[in-house]
Amino acid sequence: MKKVKVGLLGLGNIGIGTYKILTQNTEKITGLSNSQIDIEKILVSDIHKKREIAVPKELLTTDAYEIINSPEIDVVVELIGGIDKAYEYIKAALLNGKHVATANKAVIATHGMELMNIAKQNRVLLLFEASVAGGIPIITAMMKPLCGNEFREIIGIVNGTTNYILTQMSENHMEYEVALKQAQEKGFAEADPSSDVEGEDAAYKLCILMLIAFGVYVDPKDIPREGITKISKEDIDFASNFGYKLKLLAGAKNSSGRLKYYVYPTLVAESHPLASVNNEFNALFIKGDAVGELMFYGRGAGSMPTGSAVVGDIVSIAKCIGTDLLNITPAQPYPITDETLELTGESKSMYYINFLVGDEPGALGKVSTAFGNHGISIQSVLQRSKGSNEVPVIYILHETKRKQLDDALADITNNNYVKEITSILRVLS
Ligand code: HSE
Repeated sequence: MKKVKVGLLGLGNIGIGTYKILTQNTEKITGLSNSQIDIEKILVSDIHKKREIAVPKELLTTDAYEIINSPEIDVVVELIGGIDKAYEYIKAALLNGKHVATANKAVIATHGMELMNIAKQNRVLLLFEASVAGGIPIITAMMKPLCGNEFREIIGIVNGTTNYILTQMSENHMEYEVALKQAQEKGFAEADPSSDVEGEDAAYKLCILMLIAFGVYVDPKDIPREGITKISKEDIDFASNFGYKLKLLAGAKNSSGRLKYYVYPTLVAESHPLASVNNEFNALFIKGDAVGELMFYGRGAGSMPTGSAVVGDIVSIAKCIGTDLLNITPAQPYPITDETLELTGESKSMYYINFLVGDEPGALGKVSTAFGNHGISIQSVLQRSKGSNEVPVIYILHETKRKQLDDALADITNNNYVKEITSILRVLS
């Protein structure tokens, strides 16, 4: 039987999950891959640290290059996270002719094009199923069984931390800060949650999804994004009154060669399948020209779900070793021009607008007239009197260009009957 030797870089949460699955489900994995997959070495920062699993001490090393340069090792599995060191190790491993599996979205979104080219030149595989939505096998699904489709649209809830926070705000009427604290106590949010709550983590994942679905590379920094830090319990309650849930969506839509992509907190109609994806769960809603609509649902993080995806990649690599390998074709950089990109001002969306309006005769009529003057059609309006002189008035607007909306809002705020625009959110249509 073929022997495949694996070096793990990192024995944190995902490393432990990967180790457990490889050692617990050995018989199944051996049978499927027709290979004996052995963990040869594991990079750790402290050999003597107490761990939740018993790992033979002789497997541990504090020197990454003992793995990367080992002639014995066929597959390097990068699970240390972060960008710079992970990039250095993955690149060195590929140049040394090792296959690589990684769970690292930041490194693939930042250096993936270069690393895929190096892998191709060195006739090795670079797989990263675990980098997007943890246990959901979305990358393999798009590359293999769905590869015959032209993808029209991908809409994902790809960040469990923010989905947990928004769900708690909605179901238990918590303010953002309270829900964040609870997420941290339960281990769903990091001590420094900024990458998750500001949408950076979702932008990395969207970058990778677009690479696979559309064959284009868009720098994560160029993805328009808003996080959830300014979302109020009030907006979530109002959205619910209109029949919507608020979700942080990472989306990309290709209509007639024009690509629109974003990471935004968005109102999703309760009838949409994404609306019922709650707490730490992730989901991807995909439209392909042949297959139609598909929805993938599962755990996007955690030791065992993410380990499940990593092990899947290791097995895929093991099956390919000794065969004529084909690598993922690196994406062609997408020619971003006014023709191909829906510029922010041109991009159409439905909107939710929350105004604080003076409770005086004609105020609501003036706001509505201003929208009409700018060619914007109103879908619904809700006014909630608090018994004070100023009342929240919430509009749901039919699809409009952002520029039209901004012009209307400029007119509206020039008049003293609108005290404040409390929030502007997109509505999925
Ligand atoms: N921090 C991510 C999340 C998990 O909250 O979904 C790892 O990508």
